[in-house]
Amino acid sequence: MSKLVVCGGNQLEGEIEVQGAKNAVLPILAATILNGGKNIIYNCPDLKDVTTTVEVLKKLGCHVRRHEKTLTVDSSQLNSDTIEESLMRQMRSSIIFLGAIIARCKRAVVSMPGGCEIGNRPIDLHLKALRELGVEIRENHGYIYCDAHEMTAANIHLDFPSVGATENVMLTACLVPGTTVITNAAREPEIEDLQSFLNRMGAKISGAGGDVIRIEGVEKLYGVEHTIIPDRIVAGTYLIAAAMTGGSIVLRNVCPRHMQSSINALRDMGCELYTERNRIAISPAKSLKALSMIRTMPYPGFPTDIQSPFMALCTKASGSSMFVETIFENRFQHVEELVRMGADIRIDGRVAVIRGVPGLSGAKVVAKELRGGAALVIAALAAEGVTEIDGVGFIDRGYEHIEKYLSSCGGNIKRKD
Ligand code: UD1
Repeated sequence: MSKLVVCGGNQLEGEIEVQGAKNAVLPILAATILNGGKNIIYNCPDLKDVTTTVEVLKKLGCHVRRHEKTLTVDSSQLNSDTIEESLMRQMRSSIIFLGAIIARCKRAVVSMPGGCEIGNRPIDLHLKALRELGVEIRENHGYIYCDAHEMTAANIHLDFPSVGATENVMLTACLVPGTTVITNAAREPEIEDLQSFLNRMGAKISGAGGDVIRIEGVEKLYGVEHTIIPDRIVAGTYLIAAAMTGGSIVLRNVCPRHMQSSINALRDMGCELYTERNRIAISPAKSLKALSMIRTMPYPGFPTDIQSPFMALCTKASGSSMFVETIFENRFQHVEELVRMGADIRIDGRVAVIRGVPGLSGAKVVAKELRGGAALVIAALAAEGVTEIDGVGFIDRGYEHIEKYLSSCGGNIKRKD
């Protein structure tokens, strides 16, 4: 098992080219099976979750090749409609294949994804929406059996703007005759990227980025080329790492428009940020101020995925910050590890109160989930002494070679196997 060893105290200085977005590339790779053609996807990050998605594609019969950041997926020889339990367990978001397999094969069998490290994460909204499209669904012995021979377009209202459920409906409905309308759809930028990819393939979808999405079913889709959008959460994490160390960095290949709530929060804390169309520069705060209240919300609200990195930053701010996690019930697992490093954080249910301390100290800590792991890296970069972070596999799910990017800006961080 590898671990990250961080010797804190170095200010980050330099430039980082931000990786492609994990949450965009996963549904887009699933969508490649819809067209039975050859797809070339650029700017694919080198992540464990992307490797798992490629494994699913191969098990379904696709030919997949990677050359640096480009993935070529040929889905013409698709020969399976089943995703087995071992792959569903490795990555809960494999559920995004459900809508795509249904649309292509008119049948699908996937294992129930089950719970995961950040909470229960049910899929009731996905299944309800697919049933509204006419898919017959049976749940038996931990598997979901779908028969989709008689699908019809529908008006689908999501009780919560679930990202995955919105994507699953888009993936299925783009090949269902008639016009499907999703109301209370998720508005995340990754949904817009999926819409662009599907439309390039020949789909007729409009409205992504807003809360009403219209999907006119078409008969056939075609293989295409597409470039994945920059990862707004990874970009936010590196800005926070710079702020934590009192450093100045420049991010390239970034979309500031997708990061407004993170940019505002960093400015509220006293950091100076300069944005251009695809660049952001950050200079340190004279003194870091606490964030009075952060409430995680669906996009364009404050992202749950950046909550823990910001909490790490608030451990050093002067005054008290309050975080309310409204999306996932188990997303404070980094707190006890930050406390081991000297942070002053109290939790009551979904509320965390952070009182700034003069400094953190290095300790042995464990990453228990992806973003919480990134929070520990941020804390370690500014802590006095050495921090050893176990559970790096979680961080690798979403951050491409985190130690390389950070050490290229002067961070003292190494991976040890
Ligand atoms: C996606 C992102 C994840 C991010 C999350 C919220 C991907 C691969 N992952 O996850 O990084 O943290 O959005 O922005 O894109 N829910 C239900 N029933 C359902 C579906 C969801 O109750 O059928 C609940 C979940 O338990 C959670 C909330 O809705 O409380 C949000 O989940 P959702 O938007 O679906 O997140 P994911 O698509 O799983």
